[in-house]
Amino acid sequence: MAFPESFLQDLKMRSDITDIVSSYVSLKRRGRNMVGLCPFHGEKTPSFNVYTENGSFYCFGCGVGGDVISFVMKIENLDYTEAVKFLAQRAGLEVPQDSYDNSMSMLRKRVFEANREAARFYFDTLYSPNGRRGLDYFHSRMLSDRTIRRFGLGYADENWTSLCSYLRSKGFKDHELIAANLAVKRRNGSGVYDRFTDRVMFPIIDLRGNVIAFGGRIMTDQKPKYLNTSDTPVFKKSSNLFSLNNAKNSGTSVLLLCEGYMDVIAVNQAGFTNAVATLGTALTNEQAVLMKRYADEVIICYDADEAGQKATARAIPILRNAGLLVKVLSIPSGKDPDEFIKSKGSDGPAAFKALIEKCGNDVEYRLQKLKQNYNLDITDGRILYLENAAKVIATISSPIERDVYTSKICSEIGVDKNAFKQQIANRLRRSSREADKKHIRQIQTDLSGKNDKINIEHYKKPRSSSAEEALLVYLINNPDSYRDISSQINSGEFQNSLIKRYYEYVADRIENGLEPLTNISADFSSDEVSKLYQLMSQSIPAASTPEALREYINVINEECSKLNSNDLSSLSDAELRVYLDKIRKSKQ
Ligand code: UTP
Ligand code: MN
Repeated sequence: MAFPESFLQDLKMRSDITDIVSSYVSLKRRGRNMVGLCPFHGEKTPSFNVYTENGSFYCFGCGVGGDVISFVMKIENLDYTEAVKFLAQRAGLEVPQDSYDNSMSMLRKRVFEANREAARFYFDTLYSPNGRRGLDYFHSRMLSDRTIRRFGLGYADENWTSLCSYLRSKGFKDHELIAANLAVKRRNGSGVYDRFTDRVMFPIIDLRGNVIAFGGRIMTDQKPKYLNTSDTPVFKKSSNLFSLNNAKNSGTSVLLLCEGYMDVIAVNQAGFTNAVATLGTALTNEQAVLMKRYADEVIICYDADEAGQKATARAIPILRNAGLLVKVLSIPSGKDPDEFIKSKGSDGPAAFKALIEKCGNDVEYRLQKLKQNYNLDITDGRILYLENAAKVIATISSPIERDVYTSKICSEIGVDKNAFKQQIANRLRRSSREADKKHIRQIQTDLSGKNDKINIEHYKKPRSSSAEEALLVYLINNPDSYRDISSQINSGEFQNSLIKRYYEYVADRIENGLEPLTNISADFSSDEVSKLYQLMSQSIPAASTPEALREYINVINEECSKLNSNDLSSLSDAELRVYLDKIRKSKQ
């Protein structure tokens, strides 16, 4: 069951896409559209388009697109019914009760509730006699009770079923606990047991205050040191950050990016509430784009060890590409932020503040790392250093910034600025040629459809697919032409099964007097919705004339009758009938 059509239409009318997108993205007018920096992938020049006319959006950079509902689903990380409710609340509309299938929303709701109860239970256990080990552990790591409370830390005791029994007594079903990844099925199939035992627990809280997952640390040297909730209906590791819920209220536009839970907490306890961490994975583009929503600058505070330095090198371009200013904190003597602060005793907060104040930006950091590799006392060492430094400087897009580093290096090493500038200019030319080539290759593969994971049949049957796609877009833009089109063509003639599904869906809605796409986000996957909006946004005005339409129909008819007898075995009954019809017609 879906939401009533009239309700959805009303909702869409009152949810102006430009208004809604504007609360997340700063948009500028360009011709008839609005454009801005895509909130779903990192970019520096805007390729995210909002089409006010038909209430849709499409990003030419990452291929994400859809209507206002799919936008909210993506940006707020909601499912379809939750997004509809979100928009309804915003527009002051009452959601018709019991009119929709909400089994997924119900499960998500139960998972949120189970997580909340679990967090409470772990916290209560920590302060019960059963939780002594956990509390002693946190205290041994210098966490105050205030900090423990602020982060809602807890303890999962040694018993394998404590949480399951408790949550069952609160009315939760085993399948809900499994969905939340709080419980695991027994191997022999009978019943479930707790996912986390004998670990201190760190709840992960989203921006709306929901507990969405946990990290659990073992208190011995056993492995794995940290166990994290796997992806669930409410949690995706790669798109969340630990403590962003606190950091977003810190009142600064700077975020401190740490490696782990304990670092974030120790840094908070030292008075810096703007710290976040990834959750046991390397930094993703998604997380960088998420940070950009709340900050302009990120200070990487990774461990000073080799792994931490490698992770820093990987994180820098990801953060830069998301449009963030990047600085790198350098912690002396191989420590992580938690250990550093602790090692300074009561001076910890001040010492950490001093580190932050003197930390350099990403270019300084890269140049300094580079310098360590060469012996600058000998000519060869200096030459190699300068050659590689030119490469680093050539990655900076601002000419002024480039000039500053050029001068600095030249006076440091004592070389002629012009020669060094020449070296950088060569590098820049080379990388711009490489970028151009890469761009052209990208356009070529995009056009061939070879890498299209959603519309996979386009590549196999480019001619018929192109005509079917164009016809589909024509029909969506001109629903009045449906009678005319359907008298000349039947969906059985479509050879691309995805385009056929779109076509049948749109045709069915038009036949029933409905707008073609009002409910599209409920009936197609989010990737399929994006693909459809991609097709629509790539169509040019010349493709929607009646002459063009005739051409699409001709091509589809022609390609359909080309199907040779080899293909007949793979046809469904309906397709076979259409094929036979065609042959008969052509013989008449
Ligand atoms: P670290 O091993 O650097 O641990 O892992 P840490 O943060 O310093 O923790 P303490 O101080 O020993 O308690 C950094 C982060 O990597 C993830 C966790 O998110 C951790 O905070 N991690 C690490 C895992 O997910 N699993 C592991 O087994 C280890
Ligand atoms: Mn640590």
